[in-house]
Amino acid sequence: MNIKEVQDEIMRLKKENDICILAHSYQAHEILEAADFKGDSYALSKMAASVPNKTVIMCGVRFMAETVKMLSPEKKVILSCPEAGCPMAEQMDRELIEGIKPQFEGYTVVAYINTTAELKTVCDVCVTSSSAVKIVRAIENDNILFIPDCNLGAYVAAQIPEKNIRFLQGGCPVHASVTRKQAEYAKSLHPDAKLLVHPECRPEVAQLADYIGSTSGIMDYAVNSSDKEFIIGTENSIAEHLQYECPDKRFYPLSKDFICPNMKATTLMDVLGCVKGIQGEEIEMSGEMISKARKCIDKMIELGG
Ligand code: 13P
Ligand code: SF4
Repeated sequence: MNIKEVQDEIMRLKKENDICILAHSYQAHEILEAADFKGDSYALSKMAASVPNKTVIMCGVRFMAETVKMLSPEKKVILSCPEAGCPMAEQMDRELIEGIKPQFEGYTVVAYINTTAELKTVCDVCVTSSSAVKIVRAIENDNILFIPDCNLGAYVAAQIPEKNIRFLQGGCPVHASVTRKQAEYAKSLHPDAKLLVHPECRPEVAQLADYIGSTSGIMDYAVNSSDKEFIIGTENSIAEHLQYECPDKRFYPLSKDFICPNMKATTLMDVLGCVKGIQGEEIEMSGEMISKARKCIDKMIELGG
């Protein structure tokens, strides 16, 4: 079967079996083409709450499939590739946060959505990269403990200097590995290009950027800009998708190593296996876990609009 035939078979089977496919923007082009909805973490969370289908397949990483399950517990939720986790989401667990909470009495605990469902049970509100500034600003409390990504946290704190925002040491190993030297080198190779970076990057990289935003924010900026060249400071799939979308513009990866192996773990054949019902992992969560963890997702949607 060629790619088009596999995609056609996926389309036929998902219709026949009442399946919706959600795909994060870091997925491969051929998967995005077969998906019903694509977007950043925030857009997918909102979509998850409203899709009518009995089954949802999440092409992304585990915390994204858990979020879908929490928002739609009655649905069958399948993670397309069971090995696809987010290393950042595994950095902190419930016990750690419970243990340090007494040192942060009176603080609102804000969890990046890239956390496990279990950790969310002891947090107050979730954020995504595209909604973090808006949500932290909307929280009535001025004392915030922001976990786990201190780079995203530093970005939020810089936008809201009037709040006391504290961090723990965590972050995305893929984004945080990119150095200022690499960003300077990319800029020297492409002096006319605008540098667009994700807030999971180190502050010294973000300082060089013309725009800082989520995966969708970066894509929207590049599509709507009158500029013609861009250095893309996030997972390299975004540079590829933009090149498909805007053939008259040029997109350069900030680094050739800007690759998230977990986001790249799902293949189109895995998606075919999922719609056939022979692959993927069904997300199972207890009712108690869902009701405790969901509160901070609901709060995110309430404050994020
Ligand atoms: P977005 O919130 O921009 O979709 O990012 C998710 C993510 O995992 C970035 O590494
Ligand atoms: Fe997690 Fe980073 Fe991969 Fe995003 S890019 S899924 S934060 S490891």
